[in-house]
Amino acid sequence: MAEGYVREDGRKNDELRSPIKADVGVVPNADGSAMFQIGKTIAIAAVYGPKKMHPQHSQDPEKGTLRCTYNMNSFSVEDRIRPGPSRRSTEISKITEWALNPVVMLEKYPNEVVDVHINIIQADAGTRCAGINAAAMALADAGIPMKELVSSISVGKMDKTLVLDLDKFEDSEFEDGEGSTDIPITFTHSGEITHIQLDGKISSEQLKEVVEMAKGACDKIYEIQKEALKKSLMAGEGEK
Ligand code: CDP
Repeated sequence: MAEGYVREDGRKNDELRSPIKADVGVVPNADGSAMFQIGKTIAIAAVYGPKKMHPQHSQDPEKGTLRCTYNMNSFSVEDRIRPGPSRRSTEISKITEWALNPVVMLEKYPNEVVDVHINIIQADAGTRCAGINAAAMALADAGIPMKELVSSISVGKMDKTLVLDLDKFEDSEFEDGEGSTDIPITFTHSGEITHIQLDGKISSEQLKEVVEMAKGACDKIYEIQKEALKKSLMAGEGEK
């Protein structure tokens, strides 16, 4: 790993932000829900459905549709964002669908839709990854059959140095040398990549290193997601 960049918050290059918190069942009226926090970024996902898809011409008789809606609340960042959809939120909604689709067994729900609403209530970079982590748990909480969970993290290249889990300063304000490149990646627990984005310059050797770093981090995130789901299941058993 190239040296040279020292993280402002004192983290090691391969260290995730803290705290990392996950909780399930945070929106009682939803069919499934979850919260995922990493550092100062907090995402809440709520699942509604499966339910009949309307309008009828959008129905797929072969399988159900996963419809994700990502929204960054106007108060989630320092400069209040204009409420409502934007090009950015539409893109992230699609990416979230693509990251989750390979693990959700939609063939069980022909002509139906599963809605996943992701709200970012506090944003400090890495919101799409936090949203995907929350959404995977919320789908499991809703009892939607899934082959496995997915976990998501972003790896950054600060000038030439690789670092895990960028914060807002690293993502948006660092401009030295080659500047900052942000590479969000989503893994299934068995190690398949369901989503990767790269908007910048990186060698193929360094990209391999990025994937390794992300996989190690996603294994840690998976354990946290699994523990939160287990805790909620055990609490449910207790209530019966
Ligand atoms: O959040 P993520 O890293 O997935 O996406 P991004 O588009 O790279 O945004 C990085 C960060 O910039 C966000 O997490 C927010 O903290 C901030 N941001 C903002 O302040 N205002 C916006 N309209 C968009 C992003």
